[in-house]
Amino acid sequence: MRPHTRWVAVASGWGVLLFAAGVTRAVAQESHIGSVTGHAPAGRPLYERYCAGCHGDDGDARGENAQWIDPRPRDFTMAVFKCRSTPTGTLPTDEDLFNAMTRGFVTTNMPPWVALTPQGRADMVAYIKTFSPK
Ligand code: HEC
Repeated sequence: MRPHTRWVAVASGWGVLLFAAGVTRAVAQESHIGSVTGHAPAGRPLYERYCAGCHGDDGDARGENAQWIDPRPRDFTMAVFKCRSTPTGTLPTDEDLFNAMTRGFVTTNMPPWVALTPQGRADMVAYIKTFSPK
């Protein structure tokens, strides 16, 4: 192979890899609840408005209200959840997160969010997942 041809081959190889990584990341920023697909970028402003006061801008449970709350808000960066249909040590499904958010947690400060649209809740599920360790 001539040096020039080899360079082109290597460069396009990287192109394919970067493209694949981009696609994987885009899929990781989606949620699927029934026929509704949630999108993390759309969930972000909703999260910042309704959730960040407790769960923190970075999902680390350091919102301004968190210090007054017992039990503490969930720290999404720990990837540990109470309501899972999945085995211990694994992440909940999108539906688990959606249902927990919709129901809220009675006897805690976590309100039910049923008043927000299903699309909005699905978008926030997609956004919350971006805080979990990859
Ligand atoms: C007033 C404070 C507060 C606000 C606002 C709040 N949460 Fe929570 N949230 C909590 C607390 C406290 C818990 C932990 C409850 C527990 O441990 O039983 C929690 C837990 C959770 C969980 C964990 C579910 C599980 O299975 O462990 C999710 C998901 C969640 N909240 C999502 C949200 C979303 C999305 C919003 C915004 C729409 C939001 N929360 C707004 C206080 C809040």
